[in-house]
Amino acid sequence: MGRRSHRLFARWYPQAAASLEDRGLGEQRARLLAGVGGRVLEVGAGHGANFPHYPQAVTELIAVEPEERLRDLAQEKAGDLGLKATVLDGEAEHLAFENDSFDAVVTTLVLCSVADQDRALAEIHRVLKPGGELVCLEHVASANRAILVGEKVFDAVLWSHVFGGCHTARDTGAAIERAGFDTEGLEPHRLPYLPFPLKVSPHLVGSARKPA
Ligand SMILES: C[S@@+](CC[C@H](N)C(=O)[O-])C[C@H]1O[C@@H](n2cnc3c(N)ncnc32)[C@H](O)[C@@H]1O
Repeated sequence: MGRRSHRLFARWYPQAAASLEDRGLGEQRARLLAGVGGRVLEVGAGHGANFPHYPQAVTELIAVEPEERLRDLAQEKAGDLGLKATVLDGEAEHLAFENDSFDAVVTTLVLCSVADQDRALAEIHRVLKPGGELVCLEHVASANRAILVGEKVFDAVLWSHVFGGCHTARDTGAAIERAGFDTEGLEPHRLPYLPFPLKVSPHLVGSARKPA
C-alpha cells in the first residue's frame, strides 16, 4: 500500500496545530518526552512541534517526514531552536536505518495516518535496540461498537480525505502489541483540547518496549 501525498493538509496543519500547543498539547508533549534519551528517531515529525521538548539527554535526533513543506518547517524550527536534528524525507513503512540502532522512536499523532500500520510498526520495532522504546501519543478507535461503526464510516467518507490520511477507527494498541512490543507503559488518556472528533477519541500515551 503506497502513501499518497497530502499537500493541502501540509499547508494548514502547522497553523491549526499551533493553537493547540498552549491549550494542553505542548505540556503533554513535554511530559511524554521528558524521559527520552540517547539516539532518537522521530517518525512523521510534521513541522517539528515536538522539537522544543526534547531533553538534553538526547544525543542524536533524526526526524523522518514525507511531506516536503512540513519537513522544511521542521528543519527551520530545529535551526531556530539551535537543535542538532537531521530531518529526512522518508516513510514509516520503509525506514532507511540499521537494525537495533535507536534507543527510542517517537510518534505523535502519526500511527493514525500511516498507509500500512503493521508494516510501519514492524519497521519501528526493527530499528529499535532491544530494550528500546516506542514513545507515542496516538488516538485510537472507540471501544464502543456502535461508535466504532460511526468512526469507520466517518473515516471513509470524510475524515481521512481532509485530515491527511488520518483514521479515527484504528486499534493502534492492538497493532503495537502485534508488532512484538510490551505495552505495559501505554496509558489511556483523553485530550479534550483537541478538535472534534479527536477530542472524544481515546488516546494511548506513554511508551511500549521492545523486549531486551
Ligand atoms: C497529524 S500530523 C502529526 C505531526 C506531528 N507528529 C505532530 O505531533 O504534530 C501526522 C504526520 O504524519 C505524517 N505521515 C503520514 N504518513 C506517514 C508515513 N507513512 N510515514 C511517516 N510519516 C507519515 C504526516 O506527513 C504528518 O506530518
